[in-house]
Amino acid sequence: MVKQFDAIIFDLDGVICYTDEYHYRAWKTLADSIGVPFDRTINNRLRGVSRMASLDIILEQSPCAFSQAEKDALAAQKNEIYKQLLSEMTPEDLLAEVKETLDGLRKKGYLLAIGSSSKNTPFILQQIGLTGFFDAICDGNNITRSKPDPEVFLKAAQMLNAAPARCLVVEDAVSGVQAAHDGGMKAACVGDASKEHAGDWNLTSVEELLQIL
Ligand code: BG6
Ligand code: MG
Repeated sequence: MVKQFDAIIFDLDGVICYTDEYHYRAWKTLADSIGVPFDRTINNRLRGVSRMASLDIILEQSPCAFSQAEKDALAAQKNEIYKQLLSEMTPEDLLAEVKETLDGLRKKGYLLAIGSSSKNTPFILQQIGLTGFFDAICDGNNITRSKPDPEVFLKAAQMLNAAPARCLVVEDAVSGVQAAHDGGMKAACVGDASKEHAGDWNLTSVEELLQIL
């Protein structure tokens, strides 16, 4: 079979692991503590979006104005709650189907990378036992614009020395699919983005990648 792609760039939260649920719980705790309404519909708008941009979306529901210093403190508070949840994760939280998919794609000769907006990427990969597994990692620590800007995926492609058109992005966020498309890449989706039919492939699980690639 002639290969359409050389590299697969995976989003992390909500694709490789279910940390998207921990993001939701941490934001919900913070929002409740300041009396701001927050639910799963609003949460879907935070997928792929940076920490500070996520906070701005949550604070849209508040009648109060917050100074930059107050916002920094709220974001730090949320991150502490989130990191506490992450610290409970172990390699057993990496689903077998995800690990088998990654191993299967590697066997097929694809380069594998992470393209995530999260600054917690190194910690999460360590918790689930994937430190050192990927050929490149581009995350919230080395980008200046978060998804839907294509920067994170273009930098990941550059790190892999792969042409954007030869990279497939795997995403659960509509903002991430837009980033992939704006970067000249195709996207395969799971989760929320798949339900929205945002991708070029809308999958029910990452395992299906082994059938389409
Ligand atoms: C993305 C998540 O992966 O990372 C977003 O989908 C999150 O919900 C963003 O806001 C930033 O994460 P962190 O870990 O740097 O706060
Ligand atoms: Mg995600």
